[in-house]
Order: sequence, then C-alpha cells, then structure tokens
Amino acid sequence: AILSAVLSVLFPTGSSVAQKVTQPQQEMSVQEKETATLACTYDTSESNYYLFWYKQPPSGEMIFIIRQEAFKQQNATDHRFSVNFQKATKNFSLRISDCQLEDAAVYFCAL
Ligand SMILES: *[C@@H]1O[C@H](CO)[C@@H](O)[C@H](O)[C@H]1NC(C)=O
Ligand SMILES: *[C@@H]1O[C@H](CO)[C@@H](O)[C@H](O)[C@H]1NC(C)=O
Repeated sequence: AILSAVLSVLFPTGSSVAQKVTQPQQEMSVQEKETATLACTYDTSESNYYLFWYKQPPSGEMIFIIRQEAFKQQNATDHRFSVNFQKATKNFSLRISDCQLEDAAVYFCAL
C-alpha cells in the first residue's frame, strides 16, 4: 500500500526574539517525500549576526535545526535541511527535502 502522510507545519504569528522576524505562512501541508520551503524574513541593523531555525514537535521540546552566520558565503546545510540565505534582501528560508512524518512541527525562525 502507498502511504500518503500529511506533514503539517504551523507558524506562530509572533516571535519572542528581540529583533524582528516575519514568517508569512501560517500553516502548510506537504506530502511525505516532498520538499517544503518555509519562508522567513528578518530585520536588523547589525552587520554580524546569526540566524537560526528551530522546530517544536507535538511532544513540546524546542529542537535546534540549523544556524547561518551572516558573513558566511555559503548556505548552511545539514542532511535534509538547507537554507536559502539572502543577506541583501534579508530572506532566510528553510528547505526540508524528502519530508518525513517526524518533520511535522511548529517551526521557528530566530535572529
Ligand atoms: C543561497 O542560495 C541561493 C540560491 O542558490 C543564492 O542565491 C544565495 O546567494 C545563497 N546564499 C549564500 C549566502 O550563499
Ligand atoms: C523573500 O522570500 C519571499 C518568500 O519566498 C519572496 O516572496 C520574496 O520575494 C523574497 N524577498 C526578496 C526581497 O527577495
């Protein structure tokens, strides 16, 4: 049988970090093995900073996924996770390839 699992990704409307990040999507669903792209834009007057993605699965703990250093000339990648970091336009999206059921979570972008 072919299992078609739905991955739901929920976004909070606000973020408790000091500087501003904006996540336009509220919720999205992708099917297993598909690629999900989660957008995030941010605003800061700093030139050196770190950007992070975290996930919070239904079990509740906050799990670090990936970190990008602003001065790095390469997009951070880690296994199925990668980012598209555009410093000029302050875009920092997360790409999850080959989505699995365990990816269902609330995702947080942080500055
Ligand atoms: C990340 O990848 C995108 C798309 O390939 C590219 O436009 C961008 O410059 C890359 N960012 C960095 C920091 O290399
Ligand atoms: C940032 O990413 C969003 C969503 O992917 C896209 O619609 C927007 O055009 C991007 N902004 C810039 C300035 O590149």
